[in-house]
Amino acid sequence: MQEELEEYILSHIDAEGDALARLNRETHLFHLRPRMCSGHLQGRLLKMFVRMINPHNILELGTFTGYSALCLAEGLIAPDGELHTIEIDDELEDFIRNHFEASPFAERINLHIGDAREILPSLGKTFDLVFMDANKREYCEYYDLVFPMLSPGGFIIADNTLWDGKVVDWGKKLDAQTEGILKFNDYIAQDKRVEKVIIPLRDGLTIIYKKP
Ligand SMILES: C[S@@+](CC[C@H](N)C(=O)[O-])C[C@H]1O[C@@H](n2cnc3c(N)ncnc32)[C@H](O)[C@@H]1O
Repeated sequence: MQEELEEYILSHIDAEGDALARLNRETHLFHLRPRMCSGHLQGRLLKMFVRMINPHNILELGTFTGYSALCLAEGLIAPDGELHTIEIDDELEDFIRNHFEASPFAERINLHIGDAREILPSLGKTFDLVFMDANKREYCEYYDLVFPMLSPGGFIIADNTLWDGKVVDWGKKLDAQTEGILKFNDYIAQDKRVEKVIIPLRDGLTIIYKKP
C-alpha cells in the first residue's frame, strides 16, 4: 500500500495502544523477519473480526512474537472466551510469554510450543474462529486438520494468501512457499463446504465460512 495512504488510514482508525506498539518495536529490534508481525492495521482488523463474529474459542497457527494473538484476545467478548495459539520456534517462547503476561489477557491465552500439525489433534476442542498464519507450505495440511475442529458457521482467516503478488507472478522459478499458497487457494476455491472471499489487504487475507 502507498505509504501516504497507509499513514492516512492509521491516523483515522483506533490506535494500537502502547503495549502493542512496544511489542512491534521490540519485534523489529530483536527478531529476524519482523515483517511477519501483523502490525497496526491488520491487528485492528483482526480485533474487529472477533468483535463481529463473537467467537467463544479462537485458534491461531503461528504466534511469532504474539502481536496478532494479543489483538485476537483483545476482541473477545464472551467472559469465558479463550485463545489457543501455537508456535513451533521455542526460542520465541520467553519473549511471547513476557508480553502475554504483561497484558490484561494473560488468563485467556493458551500458548502451545511445537508443531501445529502435532499439537492440533491433542487439543480436543472446537473453535469458532481460526487464524492461519504459520508455514505457507503447510496450509493445506492445517486446513484438513482444522476443518473438523471448526464449529458449523465458524470462520477461518488465512493470512498471506496473495503472497506479495507471487500468486500471479512467481518469476522464473516457483518456490515452495508460493507453491503452497497456490495449492491452498485452489483447494479452497473448489471446496463446496465453505464460502470464501479474498481481501487484498497487506499480503492477502482469505476469509472462509464453514456452511452449517
Ligand atoms: C507469519 S509468522 C506469524 C505472525 C503472527 N501471527 C503475527 O501476525 O504477528 C509465522 C510463524 O509461524 C511459525 N510456524 C511455522 N511453522 C509452524 C508450525 N508447523 N507450527 C507452528 N508454528 C509454525 C513460525 O515459526 C513463525 O513464527
